[in-house]
Amino acid sequence: MSKPRVMSGMRPTGGLHIGHLVGVLTQWANFCETAEAFFEIADLHAYTTGFADPEAIRAAREEMVSVWLAAGVDPARSTIYLQSGVPEIAELHTLLAMIVPVSWLERVPSYKGQIEALGNQIATYGFLGYPLLQLCDIAVMRGERVPVGRDQVAHLELGREIVRRFNHLYGDGRDVLIEPQPTLSEFPEVPGTDGRKMSKSYDNAILIADDEDTTTKRVRAMLTDPQKVRRGDPGRPEICPVFALWKFVNPQRLDGIAAACRSGELGCVQDKSEFAEALNAYLRPVRERLAEYRGDRAAVDRIITEGTAHAREIAAGVLRDVKRAMKLT
Ligand code: TRP
Repeated sequence: MSKPRVMSGMRPTGGLHIGHLVGVLTQWANFCETAEAFFEIADLHAYTTGFADPEAIRAAREEMVSVWLAAGVDPARSTIYLQSGVPEIAELHTLLAMIVPVSWLERVPSYKGQIEALGNQIATYGFLGYPLLQLCDIAVMRGERVPVGRDQVAHLELGREIVRRFNHLYGDGRDVLIEPQPTLSEFPEVPGTDGRKMSKSYDNAILIADDEDTTTKRVRAMLTDPQKVRRGDPGRPEICPVFALWKFVNPQRLDGIAAACRSGELGCVQDKSEFAEALNAYLRPVRERLAEYRGDRAAVDRIITEGTAHAREIAAGVLRDVKRAMKLT
């Protein structure tokens, strides 16, 4: 029985946090066992918003891969590769651009949302095409399943429409390109220290690469139930971000903590100090492996170089099929 082909990617923007770890990377690590897995450093996607700071993108990519590896992504059982090192992706992007109505791209919620958030200077041609480029990433590897967060589902839906249009126009009754399926993780949204979704841009993230003291300070500054002012006050664990994070750091303790919080017996200060310890213990093996990969940059480079060569071989085959279908031979 052949394994499904799984493809996913991440922009090298730095600062991977525990939301990435529990929401994405643990799932990627599992896919190394159960699927034929492809993980992409989406450096071109980073340029769609970060084009003015190429140094930052360049500096982030090996560090990001080191975190993936530290989190358990197995380079012997997956392909880790650089998007810009697979020029077939850019070529497919140009070909598919011919059949994608601008209105489809404009209607993707993240397009207007991001321009509102980041300003009009990111309203480039490339940024408008972001979800098309993402579809090209997937299509060129024949990705069937795409593990992503909830915020990416609209991109996948658009990608599926583009594939249908391509196959309809050029497939001659065949599916030249595959419609990819999103796979949501078990922990789709991890709250940050302020209770909003954890994100580096909200400054509410707990970074995988932080040291233990920094993590402890971050946890101490976390918001809890605002109605629970002092120990003894009854708390509401269901609205507390610390409680939400306990869920994956130590699920066995959840019931006990919920009961002690509700009764007032457990104060937020004590809960946070216990949680900081549990979180640091949970992160310790990942941080130790990260230090090893940081100390062996050559090994990380080799993994990326070999993975990129493998990815290119697959991409070249898909491009051949696409060009044949489009009569570009
Ligand atoms: N857009 C994705 C994100 O911001 C990153 C990404 C780029 C991606 N190419 C991809 C994810 C292909 C899945 C498949 O998280």
